[in-house]
Amino acid sequence: MNKQRIFITGGTGFIGQALIARWLQQGHLITVLSRRPEWVQRHWQGKVVAVSDFQQLSGSFDVLVNLAGEGIADRRWSRARKAELYESRVELTQALVRWATLSGQRFKRVLSGSAIGYYGGFDGAASPALDETADAGDDFAARLCRDWEQAAEPLQELTGRLVYLRTGVVLGSHGGMLKRLKLPFSLGLGGVIGDGRQVLSWISLDDYCRAVDFLLSADVSGPVNMTSPNPETNRAFTSALASALKRPALLPMPSCMAKAAFGEMSLLLLKGQKVLPQQLTQAGFSFHDADITPLLEREFHSGIYQAGAR
Ligand SMILES: NC(=O)c1ccc[n+]([C@@H]2O[C@H](COP(=O)([O-])OP(=O)(O)OC[C@H]3O[C@@H](n4cnc5c(N)ncnc54)[C@H](OP(=O)(O)O)[C@@H]3O)[C@@H](O)[C@H]2O)c1
Repeated sequence: MNKQRIFITGGTGFIGQALIARWLQQGHLITVLSRRPEWVQRHWQGKVVAVSDFQQLSGSFDVLVNLAGEGIADRRWSRARKAELYESRVELTQALVRWATLSGQRFKRVLSGSAIGYYGGFDGAASPALDETADAGDDFAARLCRDWEQAAEPLQELTGRLVYLRTGVVLGSHGGMLKRLKLPFSLGLGGVIGDGRQVLSWISLDDYCRAVDFLLSADVSGPVNMTSPNPETNRAFTSALASALKRPALLPMPSCMAKAAFGEMSLLLLKGQKVLPQQLTQAGFSFHDADITPLLEREFHSGIYQAGAR
């Protein structure tokens, strides 16, 4: 791909940092919207432009990637927390649309955030295989994803291709779910959650970044499931993680304990979705990490592996 001017929200996060590292190597020009512009300057040694407000932006961009959002699993979903999760995605995206429209942007590609929570949470045995044509669910996470996608819809007018990144659980040892699980599992405190049959649709961080790059030039638009072709049950994932960390997974978390500890947010642990990457597969994307066991072994045992750098 030729040198692109890329504007990204959420560029300081787990996924955004890996994308930017990759794009800098490819020679693209990056601008990040962040509440911490000084951190951005320091972290990328001035190689990335940082703005804290849309008003500070000037010029036009070829690509817009919209990933900003408060961490969905960081805190219990109180009413106030739900409002933060909503504002940081839906209202930020609405502000993004206003800026892009008023400043007359014409993007070659827009990739806007969403998640597989869009489809709702299913008990293990009940999850059908879900491709991008499946209906939206009706729990809080599903409504949040649906409204986040709808907020981005007006960007359709400003680009040839608008993609909604329906992101599965992104696996990389430096952040996201694996970073949270590493300590308890290393201490032998990990275990199956609930009945262990709920399905985890995952993607490696490396494949996620490769898929984003693929979508920047592919003839694909609309929702795209950003998941590997091989979702796993919680039980299989737990066993693969314990084995990669060479520890037993002895401490199951019964459903009642998860509900008591996490309230409504426990649906992220106790329910799942069997999501398949139909759009990516049909468009010819090939996954490097289709299987969970070798991925987890590599994440925890390869000194040479660098997220997003392959
Ligand atoms: N990681 C996963 O497994 C996964 C799965 C499904 C969906 N996703 C979605 O993909 C996106 C990126 O994920 P991630 O794991 O990279 O997230 P992350 O590490 O938590 O980073 C979140 C980013 O959003 C920005 N942000 C957070 N709260 C904000 C607020 N109130 N206002 C404005 N910006 C805010 C932060 O930017 P500053 O602090 O610089 O402002 C940060 O760069 C998220 O929206 C997430 O919901 C991730």
